[in-house]
Amino acid sequence: MKDSTVSWSSPSSANSSRSGKRIAVIPGDGIGPEVIAEAVKVMKAAAAETGNSLQLTQFDWGAERYLRDGTTLPPDAPEMLRREFDAILLGAMGDPRVPSNQHAAEILLGLRFKLDLYVNARPCVLLDRRLTPLKDRSEKDINFIVFRENTEGEYVGMGGIFKKGTADEIATQEDINTRKGVERIIRYAFEFARRNGRKRVCMSDKSNALTFGHDLWQRVFKLVRSEYPEIEASHMYIDNLLLQIVRDPSQFEVIVTGNLFGDIASDAGAALIGGLGLAPSGNIHPGQVSLFEPVHGSAPPLAGKNVANPMGSVLAASMMFEYLGWSREARALESGVRAAIAEGKTTTDLGGSLGTREVGDFLANAVTAGSGRV
Ligand code: NAD
Ligand code: IPM
Ligand code: MN
Repeated sequence: MKDSTVSWSSPSSANSSRSGKRIAVIPGDGIGPEVIAEAVKVMKAAAAETGNSLQLTQFDWGAERYLRDGTTLPPDAPEMLRREFDAILLGAMGDPRVPSNQHAAEILLGLRFKLDLYVNARPCVLLDRRLTPLKDRSEKDINFIVFRENTEGEYVGMGGIFKKGTADEIATQEDINTRKGVERIIRYAFEFARRNGRKRVCMSDKSNALTFGHDLWQRVFKLVRSEYPEIEASHMYIDNLLLQIVRDPSQFEVIVTGNLFGDIASDAGAALIGGLGLAPSGNIHPGQVSLFEPVHGSAPPLAGKNVANPMGSVLAASMMFEYLGWSREARALESGVRAAIAEGKTTTDLGGSLGTREVGDFLANAVTAGSGRV
């Protein structure tokens, strides 16, 4: 898979001199703790194999803690994470007992905003042709990455409700697009393409209807693309992009888009590679502490049943290792996942019959003794 060799630009410079890595682990809600427990098992096995030191510190931020004492993201958390950790691994946030989703917004979006993790990298890579629902498509056809702007758009929480609960109610939700924010994510997409030998970058917006905010995307894209003449730059409206990634995903290598559209496009992309159980992501600020997580949520109906697929979390850990410069460990995790899929050692979402823990056991074994050997 191309992504085992991707270059994420400079890893955390403050910490890169140490061979050991300190990881903050936030299991979160629902299936989060179950899938993260397996990712931790596999990460430890890979580090033991190379002899590198891995220090994991768990944080109990999530619905349970919020319901107990009102804590969401402690005020000093961003600074503490910057100071004491090389990276963060997160499971998922979301619990039906918190219908407002307040804790999830303050923890997950809080970390993305306060750590200024402006790149949300979501690779959509088909690992085995049997996993795609698309007819006559194989590994060579589905290998693209979505770069989702991660600090702006509709997610910033600007807006309000007037005359709530009345017939005259008004609700607004602003879509924030700054010159700096748009430029840095578009530039990151082109830089990634250049560094990793990708030839095509497609920017997606809705500038035909959103004529102010997305006009900015159009103008910035034109300026930035001119600095990368060797890369074929194209544009698609978001509605057409979703159609095209289903119709012919082989036309895409790098997609760059806004926060909300990137959220939607990456779930659609996950469907092409076997589902949300397999999709990893990285919330990145180049050179600074960054956060890695599966794309999926807390899947409340699956929680506590040992049925959730842990591979999205294991592949997120692989992205994290790659980002931190631990390429051998990163490759071992990914090879383990490939081996498990090839041998049908999977959870039921991928057609297998194993539980979450049993897949984790297989992967931990594969990175130490099997085909995923480091
Ligand atoms: P979801 O991702 O939890 O589930 C969507 C579908 O994918 C469901 O059918 C689920 O069963 C399946 N699925 C998800 N993860 C899986 C796994 N590991 N293995 C097998 N199947 C898996 O999305 P949802 O149902 O829309 O949301 C549930 C909660 O999660 C909500 O509170 C939502 O806000 C939250 N959420 C959080 C994150 C995050 O923390 N990054 C992401 C998405 C949703
Ligand atoms: C994701 C999730 C989050 C998002 C939610 C839980 C706020 O869907 O990480 O993809 O929309 O960013
Ligand atoms: Mn999402």
